[in-house]
Amino acid sequence: MLTSAFAFAALLVSARAQLAGTVTAETHPALTVSQCTASGCKTSAQSIVLDSNWRWLHNKVGYTNCYTGNEFNSTICTSGKTCASNCMLEGADYKGVYGITTSGNALKLNFVTKGDNTNVGSRTYLMAAGSQTKYQMLKLMNQEFTFDVDVSKLPCGLNGALYFSEMAEDGGMAKYSTNKAGAKFGTGYCDAQCPRDIKFINGEANSDGWAGSPDDPNAGGGKYGSCCNEMDIWEGNSVSTAYTPHPCSVSGPTRCSGTDCGIGDRYASLCDADGCDFNSYRMGDTEFYGPGKTLDTNKPMTVVTQFISTDGTANGDLKEIKRFYVQGGKTFANSDSKVEGVTGNSLTTSFCAAQKSVFGDNNIFETRGGLKKMGQAIKSGMVLVMSIWDDHSAGMLWLDAPYPPDKDPSAPGVSRGTCAPDSGKPEVVEAESPDATVTYSNIKWGPIGSTFKALKQGRTERV
Ligand SMILES: *[C@@H]1O[C@H](CO)[C@@H](O)[C@H](O)[C@H]1NC(C)=O
Repeated sequence: MLTSAFAFAALLVSARAQLAGTVTAETHPALTVSQCTASGCKTSAQSIVLDSNWRWLHNKVGYTNCYTGNEFNSTICTSGKTCASNCMLEGADYKGVYGITTSGNALKLNFVTKGDNTNVGSRTYLMAAGSQTKYQMLKLMNQEFTFDVDVSKLPCGLNGALYFSEMAEDGGMAKYSTNKAGAKFGTGYCDAQCPRDIKFINGEANSDGWAGSPDDPNAGGGKYGSCCNEMDIWEGNSVSTAYTPHPCSVSGPTRCSGTDCGIGDRYASLCDADGCDFNSYRMGDTEFYGPGKTLDTNKPMTVVTQFISTDGTANGDLKEIKRFYVQGGKTFANSDSKVEGVTGNSLTTSFCAAQKSVFGDNNIFETRGGLKKMGQAIKSGMVLVMSIWDDHSAGMLWLDAPYPPDKDPSAPGVSRGTCAPDSGKPEVVEAESPDATVTYSNIKWGPIGSTFKALKQGRTERV
């Protein structure tokens, strides 16, 4: 994926420390998930938390905003360290301010929420069972992950993303003593884009060199970025979807600056910003996914992702990432590649190499460690991220339209969906589709076949 999972959206006006505030109690919305074994699934009462970047950040005395619009207050935030010691992150009004609601096993994220301020998009993390201070760590080698998604109200230019990031279990509190907020307030985000719009990294504000984004009134970027391994299980809307591993040369959350963040040279980044993606449309099957297509995006569907290891145990290396879908009681294998020179319907080292070669893409995926490196992160544990976002840098064209715009749409790998080449502009989608929403539900994980077996009664001969 070319732009992948960094959400710029944020709250107009309000600001967002790393101290924990006390104006609004932080109450994590409850979410039931299922942990499965060969003998069945057990529900687990858990919860989700909103990322810290979206939160009101204010001075510990007087409640002056530490961050407004897309700027830090330079009187309070004279340095990253000072800022962290002066500023507090507040609890969130999930529903009223951010449009985030849960019900049973379902999480619904609304795109634009208007109140005193206007909120655009959100990013949430799954908390561990019974914990207000730790993220759920998923270690899914030789296992599978299953969820239902409803993308029927997600048009071109939007991305409902469900993915794994190699964040710290406590949001970085133990490692960085100046982070007093931690996972309870959604700190410690990182991904393979090494995003620089993160307001606090390593327990310090990213205020040095922070500049407001020229094209986003709610976002900016600092001197530092926050890199880590990222496994995109799902990036999608009603038109297109992709799943994409993005390995990094480093392990765990890593603060970058300069070329290590990919500044000036995307392919010099510590991480593989492109990833090795499987998007059925891009792989030549234009009838597989979309409104009224084989997988009908007018209706919810179940998405199964399996992490197959080299030795059939949790200790092996990652050799393949397989995908199945279930809809209307039928099971569907992933679509096969119809691109000449690329075979298969799952991600393997040879699939990725063939795809990169045929599409003329730089195989930085392999250079940054490929599936093996992705597998190490999957073994050591990753955090589940669920978000909704629009794309201020590329209009999500890399997901659902011809991209890059200067290439012939009929050339292999350029067309990724039926959205128009000029679609996905944030100002347009925010104005025209404020009511867009994505719902993730019925999250399950466990050994291969444990989450999926229960769904197999309606299977067709396709699998
Ligand atoms: C920045 O913070 C100082 C100290 O609290 C405050 O006096 C000033 O009004 C703030 N500036 C802005 C632009 O909010």
